[in-house]
Amino acid sequence: MSEGKPTILVTGGAGYIGSHAVLALKRAGYQVVILDNLVYGHRDIVEEVLKVELIEGDISDRELLKNLFATHDIAAVMHFSAYAYVGESVTNPAKYYRNNVSGTLSLLEAMVEASVNKLVFSSTCATYGMPEKIPLTEEHPQNPINPYGATKLMVERMLADFDTAYGLKSVSFRYFNAAGADPSGMLGEDHDPETHLIPLVLHTALGKRDTIYIFGTDYPTPDGSCVRDYIHVNDLASAHILGLEYLLEGGKTEFLNLGNGSGFSVKEVIATAEKVVGQEINKEVSDRRPGDPPMLVGSSEKARKILGWNPEYSELKDIISHAWQWHQKRHGKN
Ligand SMILES: NC(=O)c1ccc[n+]([C@@H]2O[C@H](COP(=O)([O-])OP(=O)(O)OC[C@H]3O[C@@H](n4cnc5c(N)ncnc54)[C@H](O)[C@@H]3O)[C@@H](O)[C@H]2O)c1
Repeated sequence: MSEGKPTILVTGGAGYIGSHAVLALKRAGYQVVILDNLVYGHRDIVEEVLKVELIEGDISDRELLKNLFATHDIAAVMHFSAYAYVGESVTNPAKYYRNNVSGTLSLLEAMVEASVNKLVFSSTCATYGMPEKIPLTEEHPQNPINPYGATKLMVERMLADFDTAYGLKSVSFRYFNAAGADPSGMLGEDHDPETHLIPLVLHTALGKRDTIYIFGTDYPTPDGSCVRDYIHVNDLASAHILGLEYLLEGGKTEFLNLGNGSGFSVKEVIATAEKVVGQEINKEVSDRRPGDPPMLVGSSEKARKILGWNPEYSELKDIISHAWQWHQKRHGKN
């Protein structure tokens, strides 16, 4: 059954979203090789859960890439590796431009040299900057307000240029907030430091932190707290399989949003988490954070239309339940 499916290189496959994509690739019968420097990735997840080849190394290592492409018959690349802390990108932009832009350039050049001409790329809704209109569509102007978003936009631009010049075809997925975990409980989100709302709320429920802060309750939203679009990580993974297959079948370069289409407020996330975990969670209202738009919700109609993508887990309760299952296992409740 799985014979005949090609080998896919997954950069950042030991990280949160990458590991779920690797599992989806395996489930779909693909061979997988992970390239990850393990700066943030987890070796135990690759060795004990994913059980695929791990090449421990950096995307900016040209010798390593040359060797990798010479010794493996890679049909396409899924490129997840990057730094993704927005705040750090403001205080240390050099680190972000070096890894996310220059590192990606090394990868793309190695691909062109090795005649590997298909890539699925992790872009972000942070390329849009302050939303002028909700829901955000792919036509919305891209004016990132932090270096992290700028690095991803630069890569999008490189991908357009690499298509024109070298015929490298790519699908860039602009994710909204990745959330949840594989329903098996084997995989999930484990960032250190953690900055994402759902894991922070669950860490509070587990007693790993004292309280969860609600930054601002006076926004022009239904309950005054910020509204975000949470997309289940397995739905991101399924979109990656569809994006890959679209490219393998000769599809053209595309830039597509991946979001849930419905927004959930910070207060709603906490209330739903309290129901899922069956206890009250310590929370405190704090001042607004600078640069936080009141509402960020994306339209994914284009991905649905072009790829036939049909997200499975759009309910907040499911997203949080899956995450909770994972967090209890990983961080040991009882
Ligand atoms: N998590 C989100 O909500 C979200 C939203 C939008 C976009 N994204 C993008 O999705 C991708 C994956 O995000 P994630 O949350 O899984 O992050 P993550 O940190 O869990 O995973 C990234 C992985 O890349 C590896 N890595 C980083 N730099 C590397 C390098 N130079 N060489 C080799 N490996 C390297 C890390 O060790 C890690 O395993 C990132 O590109 C991120 O910018 C994430």
